[in-house]
Amino acid sequence: MDVFDAITGRRSVRKYENRPVDQEKLGMILDACRWAPSAGNRQPWEVVIVDDPEKIEKLAEAALEQMWMKTAPVILAVCINENIAKGTYGDRSDQYALQTIGMAVENMMLAAHCLGLGSCCVTAFEESEVRNIIECTEFIKPVALVTVGYSREEPPVPYREEIAEFTHYNSYREQYMPGLPGAFRKKRGLRKKLYDSLKNL
Ligand SMILES: Cc1cc2nc3c(=O)[nH]c(=O)nc-3n(C[C@H](O)[C@H](O)[C@H](O)COP(=O)(O)O)c2cc1C
Repeated sequence: MDVFDAITGRRSVRKYENRPVDQEKLGMILDACRWAPSAGNRQPWEVVIVDDPEKIEKLAEAALEQMWMKTAPVILAVCINENIAKGTYGDRSDQYALQTIGMAVENMMLAAHCLGLGSCCVTAFEESEVRNIIECTEFIKPVALVTVGYSREEPPVPYREEIAEFTHYNSYREQYMPGLPGAFRKKRGLRKKLYDSLKNL
């Protein structure tokens, strides 16, 4: 599968088959995490693999009762190791760590997709509860719960804005007009309001 097929074909999956994910595939997903870019190459990630069904249920409850998560055979709790992340870039350390984890999570989800697995990134959760469930020390901060497993659904392709809606040329005030798919579409909604208000300045 080429990278564009992987990027466009990946979907957030919220229903999984009742079968485990083989260790080899899990290993490849973790390898995709390892190769993510990270600010200053600090690699501040820690991943807790959770396949204990009781813990998975507790994580679903901690994730504001997103009980669909219970169907996943594995949840990867992706955390920031603040001992590694903090201090390197002063005030920007937290932002860099979150950006880095975002990239690692996308790498993992794309790898899962290429391996025939579904996944979903969940960040709506009660941090203190997740901390208790995965028993992390104070400098480990959970930031994403990534459900992984064989998909039992074919989620519809969700809406995406056209390129022209969010792309600008040399200046935020200039629309990007080349012949990209959808590039000539007019900006709509909130973006149109913002764009029109700039034109009147
Ligand atoms: C930072 C982040 C947090 C998310 N949190 C949740 C979540 O708590 N629950 C959930 O069901 N989906 C969550 N999602 C998945 C999004 O709903 C999903 O990516 C979006 O609807 C687009 O669908 P797609 O991933 O299939 O393209 C999250 C995605 C991201 C990037």
